[in-house]
Amino acid sequence: MRKPFVAGNWKMNLNKLDSIELIEGLSQGLKDIDTEKVDIAVYPPFVYIDSVVNTAKSSPIAVGAQDFYFESNGAFTGEISTDMLKDVGCIHALCGHSERRHVLGESDELINKKVTAAILGGLLPTLCVGELLEERQAEKTEDIVINQVKKGLEGLAKEKVSAVTLAYEPVWAIGTGLTATPQQAQDVHAMIRKLIAELYDQQTADQMRIQYGGSVKPNNAEELFGKPDIDGFLVGGASLKAEDFKAIIAAVIK
Ligand code: 13P
Repeated sequence: MRKPFVAGNWKMNLNKLDSIELIEGLSQGLKDIDTEKVDIAVYPPFVYIDSVVNTAKSSPIAVGAQDFYFESNGAFTGEISTDMLKDVGCIHALCGHSERRHVLGESDELINKKVTAAILGGLLPTLCVGELLEERQAEKTEDIVINQVKKGLEGLAKEKVSAVTLAYEPVWAIGTGLTATPQQAQDVHAMIRKLIAELYDQQTADQMRIQYGGSVKPNNAEELFGKPDIDGFLVGGASLKAEDFKAIIAAVIK
C-alpha cells in the first residue's frame, strides 16, 4: 500500500509573513485530520525555507526546496546545494518542474544530475514530468513522458530509486484551470508505473509514488485520487490557501 503524498509548490509567491501565516493556518487546520495516513510537504521560495521550517516544527508538514544545484559547494554564484538545504531543515526537493524545463531551459541531463545529487545528498527528490499541449495534440504524450522518466532516472540503481517520487504534471493543465480528466491522468500514471517495472522490477513500481499535478483543487481532488495509480498531488495555486490545501489533503485520506 502506497502512503498518499500531497505537496504544495508555492513557486515564486508569498512573502515572509504570508509564508508563516500560511503554515500556522495549515498546522491548525490539520489538527482535525488523521495526518498519520498521509505525507505532507511544502516547497517555499529558498529565502523563506528557514522560517517555514521553524514554524512547521511541531506539525506534520515537511519542507522541501523547489530547486537546487547538483554540485556540493564552490564557485557557483547564485546556486544552493543539497547540504545547505539539509542544514536549514529541508527533507524534499523538486527536480525538473515544467517551469524549470520550459521557462529556465533545464535539460533532461541537468535534471538527472539533480535527481542523483539529491539522493546522494540525503534529500528525497520528486522528479516532475509532463507533456506540452502541442505534444498531447500530436499524440506524443507517451513518448515525451517515457523519455523524461528514463533520462531523469538514468544511472540510478534500484536501492536509490526508492527515494524518488514521480509527479506527472501535464504542462497544459498547470495554472490554467484545465485539469486532466481522472482517466487521462490515470492512463499516464499507469504507463509510468509499467515503465518503472520494466526499468527496475514490479516491486519497485508498486512502491513508487506518482503524484498528479495541474489545477488540482478541493473540488476535483477526490475524483482524481479515486484512480488506482494516482498516489497524491503536487499542488500549485491551491496550496497557497490553508483551507484549500487542507481540503485536498483531506480528500486523500477519506
Ligand atoms: P497549479 O496547481 O497552480 O496548476 O500548479 C501545478 C504545479 O505546477 C505544481 O507544481
